[in-house]
Amino acid sequence: MGTSKAIYVCQSCGYTSVKWLGKCPSCNNWNTLIEETQPESQDRYVWGNKPVILSEIKEGEEKRFSTGMPEFDRVLGGGVVEGDVILIGGEPGIGKSTLLLQAAALASQKGKKVLYISGEESVSQIKLRAERLKISSSSLSVLCEVSLERIKKFIEEISPDWIILDSIQTAYKPEINSSAGSVSQIRECASDLIQLTKKGSKALFLIGHVTKEGLIAGPRVLEHMVDAVLYFEGEKTGPFRILKTFKNRFGSTQEIGVFEMTEKGLKEILNPSEIFISHNPSPTPGSAIAPSVEGTRPLLVEIQALVTNSTTMNFARRVITGVDYNRVLLLLAVLEKAKGIPLHKYDLFINVVGGIKIEDTGTDLPVIFAIVSSLKNKPLPAGTLFVGEVGLSGEVRGVSNIKVRIKEAEKLGFKKCILPEVNMSSLSSSKLECIGVSDIISALNKFFPN
Ligand code: TYD
Ligand code: MG
Repeated sequence: MGTSKAIYVCQSCGYTSVKWLGKCPSCNNWNTLIEETQPESQDRYVWGNKPVILSEIKEGEEKRFSTGMPEFDRVLGGGVVEGDVILIGGEPGIGKSTLLLQAAALASQKGKKVLYISGEESVSQIKLRAERLKISSSSLSVLCEVSLERIKKFIEEISPDWIILDSIQTAYKPEINSSAGSVSQIRECASDLIQLTKKGSKALFLIGHVTKEGLIAGPRVLEHMVDAVLYFEGEKTGPFRILKTFKNRFGSTQEIGVFEMTEKGLKEILNPSEIFISHNPSPTPGSAIAPSVEGTRPLLVEIQALVTNSTTMNFARRVITGVDYNRVLLLLAVLEKAKGIPLHKYDLFINVVGGIKIEDTGTDLPVIFAIVSSLKNKPLPAGTLFVGEVGLSGEVRGVSNIKVRIKEAEKLGFKKCILPEVNMSSLSSSKLECIGVSDIISALNKFFPN
């Protein structure tokens, strides 16, 4: 280990500077740079490899190992690869420890030697959780430790196939002169463990807490060092949790896994469409159902809008959850211009049922329909779906994976779908009555003639 030098690290984005600055030039936050010391030695980056001719490299068969949870495997791209380093982020209390303990137990039952390291809970607390989850395994060891030196010592001693560290914010190296959870500690500790993992063809799961505002998001500095970054999300008050991929070197970044937090731990939801729509036989104003896709997976979602006369004089309120805030503002502007509705005089609330966040732009058209339906206090017909991206001049643009969307809607007994005209040609015969629309004015006129 070489000498140390002092540097200033932004605790929000990881920006480093040789001198102290009041405002971080990278993320513009004030007073986030604190002094930390970093070891000067760069030995850990020396892997000792020699150059190899590309054509002479034998194609290694990518071995994937199942987590025992199909929803988790789907998000990882089919399972865990040897040497895989996976960062799992999420707000405190969302269920990260539960997820990893369940996966650890299932993997250990299938013959993997697993070491679950916790810096947050005691052995008896983990045992209590394990009892609640009905987990017992002879090849799953639990270690409560924060010192990285000792963690490394036990990894070398036990030589586990899977290492789970809960959480990276608790790991600590005394030679770094800053507290656990600081950017330098997180980066150095993770880097040591990653090296151990890659050398021994193990798998490493790092749990990281991320706050809602994304501020002091220490684990974000790890995003480029790991193979996969997953986020575990959901409304803490509701039962559903979504595991999303943000980055994946060994798979798609668009897959999602859906879970339900129950009394006995996380239960996988293999048919998520059924849970995200309310099965109300008589439709209510302001509700539109959309055949959405997350990655390659169809997901029917219900978008609800509530439009009321604004109670404030100068500005209307916009409370939007589940869809992108700025996207909804754009749609409001398009709708105001196209239909001449003075939406700036109304308060607007938008919600996606089930606490799920949708990133698919195909939900533009259903958002517009939900808004107009609430405004006119007229429900949309039962069994009808809406899908389409909306452009700035009010045109309805095509969406991806239209066949997958329609098939899912058929499966769940829907009768009619309003979709982009351009997507019509790629549809073969369908049980669903498909109606193509090319702009929002003609689409809305079909349901709201005046
Ligand atoms: P936890 O995994 O500790 O969250 P994290 O590690 O992300 O902080 O779980 C958090 C919540 O889940 C906690 O409030 C209790 C609840 N829970 C259940 O509802 N059922 C269960 O079986 C378990 C283990 C936890
Ligand atoms: Mg935890």
